[in-house]
Amino acid sequence: MGRVSGKVAIVTGAAKGLGEATAKALAREGAKVVCSDLDEAAGQAVADAIANEGGAATFIRHDVVNEAEWEAVVKHAEDRFGGLHVLVNNAGIAPEGGPIEEKTLESWRRTIAIDLDSVFLGCKHGIRAIKKYTAKGGAGGSIINLSSILGLVGQPNASDYNAAKGGVRLLTKSAALECAEAGYNIRVNSIHPGYIDTPMVKDALNRGVVQGQQVGPNEMRELLIMMHPIGRLGVADEIANAALFLASDESSFMTGSEVVVDGGYTTR
Ligand SMILES: NC(=O)c1ccc[n+]([C@@H]2O[C@H](COP(=O)([O-])OP(=O)(O)OC[C@H]3O[C@@H](n4cnc5c(N)ncnc54)[C@H](O)[C@@H]3O)[C@@H](O)[C@H]2O)c1
Repeated sequence: MGRVSGKVAIVTGAAKGLGEATAKALAREGAKVVCSDLDEAAGQAVADAIANEGGAATFIRHDVVNEAEWEAVVKHAEDRFGGLHVLVNNAGIAPEGGPIEEKTLESWRRTIAIDLDSVFLGCKHGIRAIKKYTAKGGAGGSIINLSSILGLVGQPNASDYNAAKGGVRLLTKSAALECAEAGYNIRVNSIHPGYIDTPMVKDALNRGVVQGQQVGPNEMRELLIMMHPIGRLGVADEIANAALFLASDESSFMTGSEVVVDGGYTTR
């Protein structure tokens, strides 16, 4: 018996990185998974890989800032798999760093839209749908929001990302309380990864700017590793395992929690 058998899940940003690993972990443990992403080729390949291993998955193109597309993704889950129990709000971007004095309002708004508005829209449409399948008992519902260590602690030159991920942290708690008080049987928790070796972090390493100085990707990687007491960057499965736990009924007494998976980054 899989740890999330009988559940239908949507994972946004499932084409690569943490979303891909989470979609595959949920499917391996018995969930039927809707993979959504802007990247159609890579997203479809993830759904196909799951199906080739005997799992149940589909892909739908989805821009997480578009409310009509959220409605379509939720309907897709209900039409294809007969319900919805789990939503992983994972899609996001790491914008180019830079001081507040030099950021444009346009780039600030883009980051807030993709990293925070998207989670609001996901919670809104996720709760509306999931409560139909969980409010009267049966399989529990779970919404999992990808925040970051940068939703807990500040970093210079990351004001937009800090603000968005800090917003995700508290939006999660509002949603958790609303669902608990309404008796929806939906838990809402956030995950706060340290630096994990995904395409997002590889891009950041290649950009290689530390406090205004350009450094090479290898030097940048060493600098990041030094910030993690465990002595390495994380791997995507280490976040997928946390998401799987929160999606499953093993975490049935957790709501509004911050699950920090950061190799000790925020411990010092
Ligand atoms: N990798 C890390 O170190 C790290 C650390 C903390 C938090 N996070 C968060 O985890 C999440 C996943 O990060 P990742 O490292 O896997 O990133 P990634 O860049 O490797 O993958 C992100 C995926 O999201 C998709 N995406 C981007 N914008 C989208 C949009 N508007 N609509 C739909 N899909 C969109 C991309 O196409 C991509 O497939 C993000 O929210 C990120 O902020 C990552």
